[in-house]
Amino acid sequence: MRVVVTGAAGNVAQQVLPALEQRYELRPVDLADGDLSDAAVAGRLVADADAIVHLAGNAQPSASWDELFAPNIVAVANILAAARKKRVVFASSVHAVGQYREGIVDSHSPAAPCCSYGASKAYAEAAANSHCYQFGGSAICLRLGACTPEPPALDALEHWLGPEDLQQLVIRALETPVRFAIVPGISANTGSRWSTANPIGYSPTQDSANHRHLVETATGWATCEGAAV
Ligand SMILES: NC(=O)c1ccc[n+]([C@@H]2O[C@H](COP(=O)([O-])OP(=O)(O)OC[C@H]3O[C@@H](n4cnc5c(N)ncnc54)[C@H](O)[C@@H]3O)[C@@H](O)[C@H]2O)c1
Repeated sequence: MRVVVTGAAGNVAQQVLPALEQRYELRPVDLADGDLSDAAVAGRLVADADAIVHLAGNAQPSASWDELFAPNIVAVANILAAARKKRVVFASSVHAVGQYREGIVDSHSPAAPCCSYGASKAYAEAAANSHCYQFGGSAICLRLGACTPEPPALDALEHWLGPEDLQQLVIRALETPVRFAIVPGISANTGSRWSTANPIGYSPTQDSANHRHLVETATGWATCEGAAV
């Protein structure tokens, strides 16, 4: 399978590419290959692909709409249009459901973004869903937690996604014949409110509890603070 990975120079891609290289004919692309907010560029970069792992985007939860519009809205629309019926794996985020402060969060939790960045990810999920419904495409949206080799802070323990689980998740998302799904991108973290139940056979094995002793900072990765009422 020929797989284009966008955002290939980024943090998430660097953790997942080694596993993908062993299974697929891989084409990693990043800004140096062209800006995906240009529809012609998106069309050119994915033309020969069988599937796309779309990781490119503005990954900053503090970003403004001015900063998000081109990379997280226009580029997503361009990727979907260019992909047609090809499988697209999208990097969504826990920020798409960041308003949920208690109770279980799972793949059926409706989008409830905690910030503009989270809203841009909710848009990507909805755009991918409508693309599948309207045009017969195929998309898996991964609500990624903290994708780091070790949990970066105490408030990331419940939604950490370890590198081995991230690799398994992306492979399952590429290979499972499900037309559309939203899948929590979370490891099997002890005590987490995140359900990892999913329809693509992702079965996480890493647990942030095993790294807790390495975590020195209390905060830094939680979904955004809610607005004062
Ligand atoms: N890092 C995490 O823990 C995390 C968590 C949840 C979701 N995500 C999502 O995963 C994806 C990857 O995150 P990351 O941490 O690797 O981000 P990153 O900033 O490290 O990498 C993103 C890459 O996308 C490229 N890019 C940005 N705009 C582009 C454009 N218009 N055209 C082409 N390339 C463009 C950048 O050059 C960069 O190399 C993002 O969509 C992010 O929102 C990341």
